[in-house]
Amino acid sequence: MVNDKTLIAYETKQGVSGETAGVIAEVLRSEFGLEVDLVDLNEEPTPDLMQYHNIIVGAGVRMGKVYSKATKFLENDFSGKQVAFFASSAWGGTPGEYYESAMKRFVGKTLSKYPKISVVSKEAFGGRIRYFKKTMVDNVDLTKVKAWALELGKLFTR
Ligand SMILES: Cc1cc2nc3c(=O)[nH]c(=O)nc-3n(C[C@H](O)[C@H](O)[C@H](O)COP(=O)(O)O)c2cc1C
Repeated sequence: MVNDKTLIAYETKQGVSGETAGVIAEVLRSEFGLEVDLVDLNEEPTPDLMQYHNIIVGAGVRMGKVYSKATKFLENDFSGKQVAFFASSAWGGTPGEYYESAMKRFVGKTLSKYPKISVVSKEAFGGRIRYFKKTMVDNVDLTKVKAWALELGKLFTR
């Protein structure tokens, strides 16, 4: 197949969405033999999507908003492609009500603006806040990221 590749397009400011994207890529390659490209939307905001069948979009959140290069990227035409989305935030890594709010406000509300996209899976992950080299918040959970990547791999190869 020409277009069976996977693209992970991410936007990060504190680094977490990039790390998360890297872990997902590693799982998809090693466990499912998928060909995966990683694109940092800060460096390459408009990657060519033609060759990709699976697209994962991920970004951080500030002041309740998913980063804008990632939301701009969601304006693309993804018809015929399988799309997955994740957001990294402090709330996303706090179990219970905060996680539920992150799913609703950062993930659900963002995706509701792009009703044409058929999303196969979505998730809210934790984040990290560093201020003057001091870590104020760190609830990144790469075990959870790996588990989601395994789910995605199954969806992409079914
Ligand atoms: C200025 C600033 C504002 C933030 N606002 C929010 C917020 O509104 N909600 C939240 O859950 N996390 C918030 N965070 C935490 C970020 O989501 C966290 O740093 C996350 O790791 C960002 O993703 P990134 O590392 O990929 O940039 C904020 C962090 C900073 C530095």
